[in-house]
Amino acid sequence: MLPEGIKIRFFFFLFLMMAAGGCSMAPFNPVFPNDQPAQSLALEYLPNTPAGYVDWVKALQQGPIHPKDSLDPAAPASKPFDLNIVFKIDRRYPLRDVVFPHYPHTQWLDCINCHPAIFLPKAGANPVSMQRIFKGEFCGRCHGKVAFPLYDCGRCHSGQKSTLIR
Ligand code: HEC
Ligand code: HEC
Ligand code: HEC
Repeated sequence: MLPEGIKIRFFFFLFLMMAAGGCSMAPFNPVFPNDQPAQSLALEYLPNTPAGYVDWVKALQQGPIHPKDSLDPAAPASKPFDLNIVFKIDRRYPLRDVVFPHYPHTQWLDCINCHPAIFLPKAGANPVSMQRIFKGEFCGRCHGKVAFPLYDCGRCHSGQKSTLIR
């Protein structure tokens, strides 16, 4: 057992560290492993999401970055594909439905990056779950690795409050 004074000072110290760390600390999540990498300071001039991560979709729209469409300068630019797919969430969870937007994805990616290896191109045909996403499958093949972190929950859970009961 620690003497009372030391314990209080220790918790005060911990509180100061947390206050100093502030928003740069990854949000704590008791359910899933907290293994998302911290964001580099060099990226701070780019637009951010409300959760404080770089918004690469806005960065592309607003123009601070201009990635090439292809390594082949003669290749024609591929046109983005405008189709949203909604993943309904059981209403026992205090979460909105997931909206998967093809448009911003196909500004960065080709159809073949996802179809058919990661997702069969048919709504509802893939056994997607949050647990499997956190294990690095489906959306987790890119999100948390080369696309925005999985802790930015509200960016995917952005639709209606679900009414689905399973
Ligand atoms: C980042 C990954 C990704 C990329 C890139 C992508 N898709 Fe998809 N696509 C999905 C997901 C996720 C679904 C929904 C699957 C589900 O509901 O299980 C889907 C579903 C579809 C569907 C089924 C729609 C329906 O109502 O059944 C079609 C068609 C489709 N995609 C075509 C395309 C085409 C064409 C391209 C390229 C222009 C493309 N996709 C690029 C992820 C992607
Ligand atoms: C093949 C890689 C890949 C897969 C798989 C993938 N994404 Fe993405 N996603 C990206 C990239 C790249 C971006 C753009 C860069 C960023 O925002 O980090 C993006 C951006 C997004 C955005 C931001 C859109 C905006 O307008 O701001 C949402 C929402 C999103 N993804 C949801 C999903 C969901 C839901 C799934 C699974 C059903 C998924 N993604 C699967 C690569 C992927
Ligand atoms: C990259 C996109 C993405 C992000 C970020 C994301 N989710 Fe999800 N989540 C999904 C998709 C897609 C489903 C739908 C699975 C299905 O069809 O049941 C889902 C489903 C869920 C479910 C329903 C249960 C299940 O396994 O299907 C819960 C709970 C959940 N997410 C919690 C979270 C929490 C908490 C966070 C943030 C820590 C988060 N999600 C971040 C894409 C995402």
